[in-house]
Amino acid sequence: MNGKNRNDKTNSLISLAKVIKLAVILVFVAFGFGFLTKGIWSQSERTNKERDQKETSFDSQISNNAQQMIAEGRRIFRFDTFGDKAFWTDKLKLHQAIEGSKLGGVGPGVSPKTALSVGLKVDMDALPESLVQQIKAGKIDLDDPATTLALIKLDAVLGMKGSFNSNGSLKSVGLSCAVCHSNVDDAFMPGVGHRLDGWANRDLNSGAIILLAPDLSAFTKLLNTDEATVKKVLAAWGPGKFDAELNLDGKGFRPDGKSAATLIPPAFGLAGVNNHTWTGGWGTVTYWNAFVANLEMGGQGVFFDERLNNAAQYPVAARAGFGNKRSGADMITSKLAALHFYQLAIPAPIPSEDSYDRAAAMRGEKIFNGKANCAQCHVPPLFTEPGWNTHKATDIGIDDFQANRSPDKTYRTSPLRGLWTHTKGGFYHDGRFATLLDVVNHYNDFKRLKLSEQEKRDLVEYLKSL
Ligand code: HEC
Ligand code: HEC
Repeated sequence: MNGKNRNDKTNSLISLAKVIKLAVILVFVAFGFGFLTKGIWSQSERTNKERDQKETSFDSQISNNAQQMIAEGRRIFRFDTFGDKAFWTDKLKLHQAIEGSKLGGVGPGVSPKTALSVGLKVDMDALPESLVQQIKAGKIDLDDPATTLALIKLDAVLGMKGSFNSNGSLKSVGLSCAVCHSNVDDAFMPGVGHRLDGWANRDLNSGAIILLAPDLSAFTKLLNTDEATVKKVLAAWGPGKFDAELNLDGKGFRPDGKSAATLIPPAFGLAGVNNHTWTGGWGTVTYWNAFVANLEMGGQGVFFDERLNNAAQYPVAARAGFGNKRSGADMITSKLAALHFYQLAIPAPIPSEDSYDRAAAMRGEKIFNGKANCAQCHVPPLFTEPGWNTHKATDIGIDDFQANRSPDKTYRTSPLRGLWTHTKGGFYHDGRFATLLDVVNHYNDFKRLKLSEQEKRDLVEYLKSL
């Protein structure tokens, strides 16, 4: 029994020792595991942090890039002429007409009053306070071309960039995108105010401005016609219009005898919109930017588009080799990225609440999306189709003259935001509908929508609210 007891005691002591040993081992294992996992943990924490830091630093590269692109793009949009003085100054000699004979140019010169009357706009924020006071006091002669030169020197005339000789005379002028695609809010006086980039300048009479130029031989040569015809074509454009296809197909007038020019569209609210211009088929915003800078504004750069070699559709462009333009110096390509980015960043301006009837607009929205089925093509919130957003003329019940001047022979579904900013000049590519109600009446007839007068009015209020 004793022996057994002792044995039991010894056994239990051994077990105790075993338990302690096990516990010690477990503690060590636990600690070791802890150490190990802590090591792994802190290591993975470190790599996470490093990754975070790396991501953060590339994220900040992205943000910095965005900021820089906007700043650069804005400068290009407003002030860059892409070397187009080679066209406006060297060929057309527009600078001489602006200056006038008294200052060494030709003709009466362009006074600020004349400039405003052809729709040029003045940025009041570019005017020094002393000048603002003098204008207010009536001490500045708005009939004197010298005042225009002073404004150009201040970079105050939207889209017009000058360089000057040491004697103060105008050495050259060039144009930037802002001349057609910017407006001012008239805060100072009509035509003078704060800049509104992207707003269509529906006062600008670009035909009349080109007609001021003393030498139109660049046009007569390109279009292979006489000066009287060129003048007739330019004089027919009128305010808010320009013809971006004239230098491709040479068509100055439509079969109905009216000018072939189209309205200047807004250059805001274009992010997410696939095809651009009234007719679409040309391509993206950046395609069109390169096209305009090279072929419309007369900038120095590279442009490629084999479609312009099609002599049947584009006899003028094919003759001039516009489908593969290579200027000696390229002053355009390096600017396309920032210019594109900036344009996509310009939002469509929001209308003021008191500019439309809110309750009617809400009813109109239902009609737009429902009974009138406008949203089938003008898909909210882009108000154009995601995808290939163009249509045959027969889809919208109009003639195909302008459509046929584009590569795809279509019209692009206009994105409808900010319609309220360009009511001047009318609607559709040529302004054929003077008011939004005229547009609605057209769809009502063409699509047999059977809208009541009230429904039409509600639809119009909705369009005004976009
Ligand atoms: C002389 C006036 C004029 C100048 C200068 C001008 N544009 Fe335009 N822009 C137009 C007209 C007119 C159209 C419509 C062309 C068409 O549909 O055939 C247009 C169309 C556009 C569109 C298409 C808008 C849309 O609704 O999709 C963009 C984008 C554009 N221009 C950007 C520019 C940029 C960028 C510049 C400067 C490089 C520029 N434009 C210079 C008159 C001008
Ligand atoms: C089949 C597609 C389609 C449908 C449906 C349609 N639209 Fe359009 N819409 C277009 C196209 C394409 C244009 C461009 C016409 C042009 O440039 O001449 C346009 C142009 C417009 C414009 C002129 C924009 C401008 O800047 O001048 C307005 C406004 C408009 N549509 C409103 C409507 C309303 C309201 C409805 C419904 C009653 C409607 N649309 C139905 C395709 C459509």
